[in-house]
Amino acid sequence: MITIKSQHALELMAHAGRVLAEMFVQIGEIIKPDLATIEIDSWIDSYLRRHNLLSSMRGYMGYKHVSCISLNDEVVHGVPSKQVTLKAGDLVKIDVCASYKGYCADMARAFIVSHAKPEIARFISCAQAALDAGIAQVKAGERLGSVSAAIQKEVEKNGFGVVREFAGHGIGKSMHEDPEILNYGTSGVGPIMRSGMAFAIEPMITMGDYKVYVTPDKWTVKTIDSSLAMHVEDTVIVTDQGPKIITRI
Ligand code: MF3
Ligand code: CO
Repeated sequence: MITIKSQHALELMAHAGRVLAEMFVQIGEIIKPDLATIEIDSWIDSYLRRHNLLSSMRGYMGYKHVSCISLNDEVVHGVPSKQVTLKAGDLVKIDVCASYKGYCADMARAFIVSHAKPEIARFISCAQAALDAGIAQVKAGERLGSVSAAIQKEVEKNGFGVVREFAGHGIGKSMHEDPEILNYGTSGVGPIMRSGMAFAIEPMITMGDYKVYVTPDKWTVKTIDSSLAMHVEDTVIVTDQGPKIITRI
């Protein structure tokens, strides 16, 4: 069942989203070579506490951290570690989900340590454009398949791959609610979007083959061909006028 949120619930979600959006601006400023991913996670942990947000990730299926930090060919769910340090040229995806007074927002952004080669910059831009294209389809009365199809079209026209095994999701009191929001599909099919629904939309794309696997740590998702992967995510509220993105300033 896809829940319709009350105005009060949507305001609390929007507050959580704004805190995350502001946090990610600062994350962009602390990313630098030699930083361990566990240090980024600790920084996020203290930021969330200072802003009265509760991590939705810590404790989820035994997960011990407040963020997922995925480098290069890691797609999503990379586990912060003191052994993993950033180096120039790394493509770093950081995903954080947290709640304010019980209501969640989910957000992921990508960063390049130091500066990006043009081909990587184009890959990053494509994932961001795919996210925007998907969000642009969010409107009361439209069908969810149009979001999925718009994402797929944007990715494939650039020659990149869409990961099939993972998807976006409804969000609210829980990090993961119905429906599942695939990053590929057919326009005009699927559930009808209604005002007051909230979705976490999160294209996961690859430079090469879209096939992925879960590593022995049971979390980290990597591309099978070791090609680079991208992931960005926003939380969006459906309104009669269109999308309201709560994880952007
Ligand atoms: N925020 C992720 C998502 O978009 C979930 C991460 S799994 C966790 O669905 F265990 F790390 F929380
Ligand atoms: Co998500």
